[in-house]
Amino acid sequence: MKKGLRMEHRIHNFNAGPAALPLPVLKEIKGDFLSFRGSGMSITEISHRSPQFEEVLDDAILRTRRLLNLTDDYHVLFIQGGASMQFCMVPMNLALPGKPLNYIDTGVWSAKAIQEAQQQVQEVKVIASSEDRDFSYIPTNYHVDRQASYLHFTSNNTIRGTQWHQFPDSGGVPLIADMSSDFMSRPIDIKPFGMIYAGAQKNIGPSGIAMVIMREDMLNRVPPDLPTMLKYTTFKENKSLYNTPPTFAIYVIDLVLCWLEDTAGGLEKIEEVNKEKASLIYEVIDSSEIYQGTAEPSSRSLMNITFRLSDKNMEERFLAEAKSNGLQGLGGHRSVGGFRASLYNAVSVESARTLAAFMREFEKSSV
Ligand SMILES: Cc1ncc(COP(=O)(O)O)c(C=O)c1O
Repeated sequence: MKKGLRMEHRIHNFNAGPAALPLPVLKEIKGDFLSFRGSGMSITEISHRSPQFEEVLDDAILRTRRLLNLTDDYHVLFIQGGASMQFCMVPMNLALPGKPLNYIDTGVWSAKAIQEAQQQVQEVKVIASSEDRDFSYIPTNYHVDRQASYLHFTSNNTIRGTQWHQFPDSGGVPLIADMSSDFMSRPIDIKPFGMIYAGAQKNIGPSGIAMVIMREDMLNRVPPDLPTMLKYTTFKENKSLYNTPPTFAIYVIDLVLCWLEDTAGGLEKIEEVNKEKASLIYEVIDSSEIYQGTAEPSSRSLMNITFRLSDKNMEERFLAEAKSNGLQGLGGHRSVGGFRASLYNAVSVESARTLAAFMREFEKSSV
């Protein structure tokens, strides 16, 4: 083992995903890794059909149900392939013959979902887009087809730093949301949703897996002739155990949900903390001469705060000095540049405070 790997050196982690996990979770994984709960085997060495793993899976499902207040008609599924896999599975499984698909385009991830839908289904209508102002806002003007199979939107736009603070009113058409980057960051009313999906690597665990919340009636739409591993019914009927699932990822998700429920105090509490963290950074941006937020204020995300420096020549220095102060992961997505501070659930108020203080200091030293 390399020498450095043994050291416990933690930085303030603002990565957009994979992202910070709660420290108590990482410590528990470390403590349990050689002998999972006294079994004499690592969690990565035990069968997915063993009672020990089933207990983990059941606990993750139960905690999800409690945290999101799910009624009995919703199922919790774990599906490989991350959120991107859902971009194609959603239209394949849930398009109703002859009924258009409605999508709202708020940036790269919505666009990818739209592109995949267009490959599956003829009539895909983009009923609103914020492209006209560089995806800096959440559209409010749109008309949902009453006949639509569903309305798909991205609840938080990880790259552009915008977020839906009120979900679209679809007039009864099932909502489908890509909640990858704000899943479990606030309470939601599940009723209008036919389905929610989230890549785990931002708020709930490691990458490569998506959690899917699916309403029972949506499953009646699944065409029987789809390949087995691409059908939602396969995951529902086999409790996500048709084949060998990513057992380690599900174990970590269970630990994160346990932390969220028992230590962080649930979704109302975590939303308060998330608001506090975000306002610490937005306050610096709003009172500054040198930082410029890229999202319009009413659409600002609590999870990903995107900003630029008015003098682009200072951007490299900002990142280098942040890093030498133990603040990492602040570079914007490669498609847009600038900066992005991701403040997911596991990022502490202390980390947000440290970043705010650094930004103030940097400004003082620059003007
Ligand atoms: C909102 C959103 N949707 C989808 C994805 C893609 O997720 P994955 O890499 O798990 O396919 C991301 C990744 O960053 C994202 O932020």
